[in-house]
Amino acid sequence: MITGDVEVHLAHVVDTPALRGLLDDDELRRLDGLHRPADRARLVASHALLRLALAARCGLDALDVVLERRCPTCGSAEHGKVAAPDLDQHVSLGHAGDLVVVALSPSAPVGVDVEVESACGFEGFAAVSLHPVEVEELAEVPERDADWARATWWVRKEATLKATGHGMTIDPTTVRVTPPTEEPALLAWPESPSPAVHLADLRVAGSYAAAVALHDVDDRVAAIDVTQLDGDELLRVD
Ligand SMILES: CC(C)(COP(=O)(O)OP(=O)(O)OC[C@H]1O[C@@H](n2cnc3c(N)ncnc32)[C@H](O)[C@@H]1OP(=O)(O)O)[C@@H](O)C(=O)NCCC(=O)NCCS
Repeated sequence: MITGDVEVHLAHVVDTPALRGLLDDDELRRLDGLHRPADRARLVASHALLRLALAARCGLDALDVVLERRCPTCGSAEHGKVAAPDLDQHVSLGHAGDLVVVALSPSAPVGVDVEVESACGFEGFAAVSLHPVEVEELAEVPERDADWARATWWVRKEATLKATGHGMTIDPTTVRVTPPTEEPALLAWPESPSPAVHLADLRVAGSYAAAVALHDVDDRVAAIDVTQLDGDELLRVD
């Protein structure tokens, strides 16, 4: 058995010509299709950060890092889980609000997610996002902690669904994770057996929640070990 090493970089969104210069043609095409400046900036920052993090880890120039995505459902190369096919690293990325996050692991498929706490405060969140047992647990959470609790449930779940590659093709109400006051873990899955998943919460300032998951496909990861680094440093390129 091994320890599943995960390197996480969390950064504030920035959009500069130097960072855009790291994107490939597909990413630049996607950028053209986005109209809201905030969406454009999140795409630039997240993809540049992933390239810079992989370059630093693997001793490469960021311009030489090739990223691709492949949808496990329809096979399209236009969407789906991001991958670095030439490198010995599993990768994942996410963005929300003013933050982007990327995760790299040599050990096993990884999934990472960040969310603005208040984004999970809409009416009906529990009905479309939480397992029936989680809905009961949420009812016991004091109102002042409710946004934090909802967002923590959500990122644990979405990180898991990104690590397995299912994303929202699996109904999140059929997936159960531990409540926010407990150590993160996957408790229920729509089919048996559940995938072997190791989860960790991430440190994030402000009103955000973030989590990372490792999908132990080969049944050889005993525990997850997360190194969380400052992604803002990496994004400071000229
Ligand atoms: C994964 C998903 C939950 C993330 O949604 P989100 O909250 O809007 O976005 P986030 O910022 O948290 O994450 C976005 C990143 O998730 C990753 N992602 C997309 N699909 C993924 C999947 N199936 N598994 C793992 N990661 C995935 C991508 O890297 C994406 O960023 P990129 O496109 O810029 O590379 C959502 O995109 C999803 O469910 N996608 C799959 C839907 C699907 O497969 N439909 C069938 C289409 S044929």
